[in-house]
Amino acid sequence: MRALFVVLKPLCFLALLGYCPSATIRPKEGWQVYSSAQDADGRCICTVVAPEQNLCSRDARSRQLRQLLEKIQNMSQSIEVLNLRTQRDFQYVMKMESQMKGLRSKFRQIESNRRTLLTKNFQELKGKMNELQPLIPVLEQYKTDATLISQFKEEIRNLSLVLTAIQEEIGAYDYEELQQRVLGLEGRLRNCMNKLTCGKLMKITGPTTVKTSGTRFGAWMTDPQADPKNNKVWYMDSYTNNKIVREYKSVNDFVAGVESRTYNLPFHWAGTNHVVYNGSLYYNKYQSNIIVRYSFESGRVMTQRALESAGFHNVYPYTWGGFSDIDLMADELGLWAIYATNQNAGNIVISQLDPLTIQVLNSWNTEYSKRNAGESFMICGTLYITNSHLTGAKVYYSYSTKTSTYEYMDIPIHNQYFHMSMLDYNARDRALYGWNNGHQVLFNVTLFHIIKTDDES
Ligand SMILES: *[C@@H]1O[C@H](CO)[C@@H](O)[C@H](O)[C@H]1NC(C)=O
Ligand SMILES: *[C@@H]1O[C@H](CO)[C@@H](O)[C@H](O)[C@H]1NC(C)=O
Ligand SMILES: *[C@@H]1O[C@H](CO)[C@@H](O)[C@H](O)[C@H]1NC(C)=O
Ligand SMILES: *[C@@H]1O[C@H](CO)[C@@H](O)[C@H](O)[C@H]1NC(C)=O
Repeated sequence: MRALFVVLKPLCFLALLGYCPSATIRPKEGWQVYSSAQDADGRCICTVVAPEQNLCSRDARSRQLRQLLEKIQNMSQSIEVLNLRTQRDFQYVMKMESQMKGLRSKFRQIESNRRTLLTKNFQELKGKMNELQPLIPVLEQYKTDATLISQFKEEIRNLSLVLTAIQEEIGAYDYEELQQRVLGLEGRLRNCMNKLTCGKLMKITGPTTVKTSGTRFGAWMTDPQADPKNNKVWYMDSYTNNKIVREYKSVNDFVAGVESRTYNLPFHWAGTNHVVYNGSLYYNKYQSNIIVRYSFESGRVMTQRALESAGFHNVYPYTWGGFSDIDLMADELGLWAIYATNQNAGNIVISQLDPLTIQVLNSWNTEYSKRNAGESFMICGTLYITNSHLTGAKVYYSYSTKTSTYEYMDIPIHNQYFHMSMLDYNARDRALYGWNNGHQVLFNVTLFHIIKTDDES
């Protein structure tokens, strides 16, 4: 509770309270100024009641505080005027006082020599002096008032300091709130951008060969969730009997072969369909349908979970084999697993996964045979499937998880090095990362999107 009292007669008595427990009105918002009450001594009382900190809208509170400060400023100005006038009056009275004093000594002088004066003149003089007599207490009052006014001025100054301090405090809150709003706006903007970047696949251009390295089969990737400055590349050569992940600080470092770290995973991986998402590597544990989430930061396995009824170990691989039964991927909407089950007759099942627990959030059954799929990748919740891993491959089929419908399509993909063992979309780069027969390649995608005016999310 903040309390500040100004005891001044006949000026204002101010109380500034953190809250006002006795008041009948409990202000919920903003600042309230009560005034004009008189206390027992006839003093004017102004009570300023501040709201409870957590109740009010900060905007309203700071607006009211500004008004209060303005009022105090206005009050200060009035005091200044009063002060000037008082000083002028005071000087006038002082002059009168000295006049009176001079008059009195003259009178005494005359009185002691009264024989030289006319009685009439003397009486006149005495009468005038008597008229001046009441001015003496008035003069004393002026002196008192002048002291009070200077005290009051000091108090106003003190109160202004307190209010400025409060304003600064509230100002800090406002900044915080502003910050929150900016963050919220940023989030909405990002969502909006994501929506705008989402669309239907129209064309695939490239590839650009980034590097030639490793065996015929492997995987390389960046983290679509990493912040824009983080361009780390992860490299996982071969589809079997390996558990070494190489990390590079940037694509340039990757091209130059400047490794920044290596991670020795606790379990071997199967296939080439791993994904790095939000700082973790998700991969299929060798000879199982277990998905492992390995955190690069802690260098530890955070979660392991079996993908229920998913075929593994070349039961339902892509056309090229290589234990590519379970394909993990990420797009604008999150983390996904593409696999096949006996229940779905070996056809592709799409499951959205919780990135933390690896639990299946939702699943869709397609009618596209996993063994007849060359590769698949997800863009904006739609799965695109190529018909082959060899020359002449094209995107042949797509399945929208949004509408649970499929369509056949014919989008060529230039399989420059004849064998494709990995193809994954990266939402941040809007590119397809490919492992093309020992070449690490990138394709660009052209998405067609219809911008709608209504906010359908
Ligand atoms: C302060 O004085 C100005 C000008 O005299 C006036 O417009 C304004 O409303 C006053 N503010 C308050 C809070 O009384
Ligand atoms: C104003 O503040 C000063 C310093 O805090 C203090 O010494 C002084 O007594 C205050 N004046 C009044 C009238 O309260
Ligand atoms: C993809 O597009 C970017 C910019 O639009 C361009 O710089 C890059 O060369 C393209 N890459 C491919 C493989 O076409
Ligand atoms: C990414 O990880 C951070 C913590 O490391 C978490 O707060 C955030 O929600 C994660 N984002 C997604 C999309 O999972």
